[in-house]
Amino acid sequence: MSTSKRVSVITTPIYYVNDVPHVGHAYTTIAADTLARARRLGGEDVFFLTGTDEHGQNIERIARERGISEQEHCDLISAAFRSLWERYDIRYDRFIRTTEDVHRRGVLKLWGLLRGAKTPDGRDAVYLGKYSGWYCPRCEGFKDEEELRQPGNVCPDHERPCEWTEEENFFFRLSAYEAWLRETIESDRLRIRPDSRKNEILGVIKQGLKDFSVSRARVKWGIPVPEQPDHVLYVWVDALSNYVTALGFADDAEPYRHYWAGGDERLHLIGKDIIRFHCLYWPAILHAAGVPVPTREFGQGFITRDGRKLSKTTGNVIDPVALVERLGPDAARYFVLREAPYGADWDFTDSAFVGRYNADLANDLGNLVSRALTMVLRYCDGRVPARWEPGPATALAPATVDFTRAFAASVCAPADGLAAKVLGRYEDIDFSSALTELWSWVGQFNQAIVQAEPWTLAKDPARRAELEAFLYRLLEGVRLVAVLASPVMPRAASRIFGMLGLGEREPGPDDLAWGRLEPGRPLGSIVPLFPRVDRDAEPTPGSDGTPAVKAASKKQKETPVSETTPPPAPPRPEAAPAAAAAPSTAPTGDRIDIADFAKVELRAAKVTAAEKIAGSKKLVRLQVDLGSETRQVVAGIADAYEAEALVGKTVVLVANLKPAKLMGVESNGMVLAGSVDGKAVLCTFDAEVAPGTKVK
Ligand code: MSP
Repeated sequence: MSTSKRVSVITTPIYYVNDVPHVGHAYTTIAADTLARARRLGGEDVFFLTGTDEHGQNIERIARERGISEQEHCDLISAAFRSLWERYDIRYDRFIRTTEDVHRRGVLKLWGLLRGAKTPDGRDAVYLGKYSGWYCPRCEGFKDEEELRQPGNVCPDHERPCEWTEEENFFFRLSAYEAWLRETIESDRLRIRPDSRKNEILGVIKQGLKDFSVSRARVKWGIPVPEQPDHVLYVWVDALSNYVTALGFADDAEPYRHYWAGGDERLHLIGKDIIRFHCLYWPAILHAAGVPVPTREFGQGFITRDGRKLSKTTGNVIDPVALVERLGPDAARYFVLREAPYGADWDFTDSAFVGRYNADLANDLGNLVSRALTMVLRYCDGRVPARWEPGPATALAPATVDFTRAFAASVCAPADGLAAKVLGRYEDIDFSSALTELWSWVGQFNQAIVQAEPWTLAKDPARRAELEAFLYRLLEGVRLVAVLASPVMPRAASRIFGMLGLGEREPGPDDLAWGRLEPGRPLGSIVPLFPRVDRDAEPTPGSDGTPAVKAASKKQKETPVSETTPPPAPPRPEAAPAAAAAPSTAPTGDRIDIADFAKVELRAAKVTAAEKIAGSKKLVRLQVDLGSETRQVVAGIADAYEAEALVGKTVVLVANLKPAKLMGVESNGMVLAGSVDGKAVLCTFDAEVAPGTKVK
């Protein structure tokens, strides 16, 4: 075992080619790709394997129905998987197809080892026996009586009748490996996660393991059993073997020796539907054959849509092509990994997808990157500012001190800093926590901008060092966020690198260290990362174009946000502050009824983005979060506020004004402000108020 660089194999299930890819396939493959990328980022030696499962009775039937050969059918569908993985930026090291010759030879080698193998109590591991039972051709498996739905012996998964089948088959003596499996799993030598899956498997062992048949009569499309050429090897034995045959098990090739036999971790990511095959059959087969067994298996949760199981028959589908086209691969990858813990079932909704995209990617990350870079462009001539190291001589404002300290202590600390934390969570196969941790830093960096007010520092030449210290750290923060998000969002990371003047490339292990940005180097040009999208614009389609989620467009749209309100009304003469209890002298005839006031809908609105409108001195375009929606508002406050300083403020919005256009920009509401010396002073709150809260 190597001491410095861990060597591992990460696999997805190989997917059946009986139909085009499914969003569940994409989910597992994105997860495996992310983990492989995270490990590569940590400097590890990883082999990432995926592929297609191409044998079996189902394929025979489907090819016959389509009037093409089995191989032609497999070629077409397998190609569809590869092309989908390209769209999702999946970077596998090997794509195995079970119709490859190297696979067939590997399976036969394993079969030969099994035929010669003895169980711990000295019996043949494989024997010839009679099988009779209810067989579901769709599952390619026999069903226990209790699994069958009465009447008609209907398979619960496929809702089709099973066939009563009797045949002479080879059997694998799984029952003889019960004690070994229990010990291996209990001790975590085979680490099954989440724990619920481990317990489920231990529960199955407790009930007693039955031998299973490993050859099938009546199936032609498969690998013939040498001793019984009218039988083929059971599709699961054939399929599971891919994990070693793909690496060159047949010829004891270098990748097999290095990554499987000599590696430190053999990790299978699988769905909860196939854990028994992977956690019981597969380790026992390998153990019997004297081949190293998997060390870790993770059973992911299932995706549903609108609370219902995904199913082609009912039309409840999420087309993975449409999903990736909707907002691009980074957004799709981010969403599926962020939305729920990886082991849990979760429900896909289009509004959650778009909501997360707008909130996390367009607002939080997009704003951080654009604000940081814009400030460096403006205040440092577009070059990386000077690095500053803490020293007693420099007096810093508290906000800057806090930020720079936080950086030293939390972001850059080698042992428990940001990188170690986030990489640790990827390693735990806890993608949503990794991203939550990372986004908490995105939030803190955005907050730090508001607190440190670089625009104020920029006005004072005596505070130049402070400004540069802050901006240098901010840029490094942006860089580290890109590095650590890169396993999930490889494209965005590479674009951020481009903007930072590091060249568009995938971050690598050297990029994890603090201070890689060289002062004085020019930044690249700033490009939009994640343009906002209209929540209602283009729902994600099901592959059949079902209305619940209808057709996607080709590309991300350049923000057609719903928008804005008129700018604040021209400053009115300020009312003199009323003396506390003085009776009003205003004629009551000028007053309005409470019912009139009730017509005005005032709400707390959090500014998530702000940008001056080109060609106007006063107008600024704001994106505001109203809790349940985001709006664009135009406000006439640019002469009183720097655009960057507005982000993060919670203001009062007249939310039910009719839309109006100002300098061609639509405004959907009006921000309230007072006025001092003709300059706007925004109405804000003196304590934290949730966006969308009604102001009365
Ligand atoms: N060919 C077998 C696996 C052999 S591996 C040696 C197979 N193929 S499959 O095409 O049916 O893929 C099953 C896998 O797809 C699941 O284990 C899971 O990884 C993924 N998913 C399929 N539907 C899913 C959801 N609805 N949700 C999440 N993932 C699911 O079984």
